[in-house]
Amino acid sequence: MSTLLVTGGTVVSSTGRTEADVLVDGERIVAVLAPSSNLLGTDLASSVDRVVDASGKYVIPGGIDAHTHMQLPFGGTEAIDTFETGTIAAAWGGTTSIIDFAVQTQGTRVEEGLAAWHEKARGNCAVDYGFHQIVGGVDEHSLKAMETLVDEGITSYKMFMAYPGVFYATDDQILRAMQKARELGLLTMMHAENGPAIDVLAEQLYNQGKTTPYFHGIARAWQMEEEATHRAIMLADLTGAPLYVVHVSAKQAVEQLAAARNRGQNVFGETCPQYLYLSLEEQLGATGDPTWGDFEGAKWVCSTPLRSREEGHQDAMWQGLRTNDLQMVSTDHCPFCMKDQKELGRGDFRAIPNGIGSIEHRMDLLYQGVVTGQISLERWVEITSTTPARMFGLHGRKGVIAPGADADLVVYDPNGHTSIGYEKTHHSAMDHSAWEGFEIDGHVDVVVSRGSVLVDDDGFHGRAGHGQYLKRGLTQYLT
Ligand code: URP
Ligand code: ZN
Ligand code: ZN
Ligand code: ZN
Repeated sequence: MSTLLVTGGTVVSSTGRTEADVLVDGERIVAVLAPSSNLLGTDLASSVDRVVDASGKYVIPGGIDAHTHMQLPFGGTEAIDTFETGTIAAAWGGTTSIIDFAVQTQGTRVEEGLAAWHEKARGNCAVDYGFHQIVGGVDEHSLKAMETLVDEGITSYKMFMAYPGVFYATDDQILRAMQKARELGLLTMMHAENGPAIDVLAEQLYNQGKTTPYFHGIARAWQMEEEATHRAIMLADLTGAPLYVVHVSAKQAVEQLAAARNRGQNVFGETCPQYLYLSLEEQLGATGDPTWGDFEGAKWVCSTPLRSREEGHQDAMWQGLRTNDLQMVSTDHCPFCMKDQKELGRGDFRAIPNGIGSIEHRMDLLYQGVVTGQISLERWVEITSTTPARMFGLHGRKGVIAPGADADLVVYDPNGHTSIGYEKTHHSAMDHSAWEGFEIDGHVDVVVSRGSVLVDDDGFHGRAGHGQYLKRGLTQYLT
């Protein structure tokens, strides 16, 4: 067991900031001390195994990305990041825990899906990992199988009101699953878009010759998200089950969440960096890359889709984060290469695999929101780490810098700079970056996971297999 002292920095939590040193023994934080403390007359810095100098920098709890899809089968292909490449990219970006989605589809068993996900992840992760369970085929068997999830450390499950024929759940299935979730204390996560109606619009657009990626965004209109969000909220209200709506992108969906919260319902919303920064016009409609021409927008095809900036959705996401109508930011990291993967939908936007990769840039992109005055420094820590820990049953262990917590720490330099370029500047297996050209006025300097330095100024020191499976408790976020 080795000791580590992070010294001279400003320790930032969700509620404040203070000049302090952080003492780590083995995998845990053992003390948060006044700067340069002499414990029992001993100069700490000279008695620990390693000192990390954080002078002039922020020391924050490691990021928790609660929505990732490593190796997700989708649209005839599979998300390109393995648990190894995806978690190495996470570590580089200051994210020290992920929660990925184990997949059960119609006709298969929940237990098989979960076992397959353990198989993919075990021994391969560079940072700690947990699972949510996708229940893609609600029937008597899967409802019964939900009873075993809590013992497995899986306290949240996801259903889809979108993707008919793939993960789609009907209202009667959703109602039954929510009743079960209420009984078990599970948190219901919902992909809220009206899938069957979207499929009609998409087919009509395709038949009119409107086949480019831009029309992915037109078919998945905000009304489809607002309606499904409202329906999910009503079903949750009926059953008394808490609800967490994933990847919120429409202003009107935030309004639905806000109204439900104002009525006192346990309803929560997550947005993603792409919905804060990117748009239908600028990205989905892009044609500037000569390699791809009018197919360039495929880089940003994801669901829910990027939305019109003129309609004010991006501003509404930032506002929702400030008012706590949106509680946290995850990436929905679901990376597909342009070559051979997104390319499957050239000539038919309906066949483009859905997903964007952002796992390495979430902490930076949200810090840029601090620089531009959208959120406070403390709110940055809250929405990227502290709330994800509380929401998904990891509080006390993750998301805080306090004695007894896992020593997951990031030293962040507000005077540093990060330029995001092509694939060369990221560590995901993607062949492009959805964030190319973004400039960040800050830099992830040092990343510590359970007491081990994974990243510092001379590079990556982590390894696949360092990351451990996180058995999670019930949500600690309910009112
Ligand atoms: O486009 C997305 N979001 N792909 C991943 C699957 C999902 O819906 O979360
Ligand atoms: Zn989804
Ligand atoms: Zn997702
Ligand atoms: Zn080093």
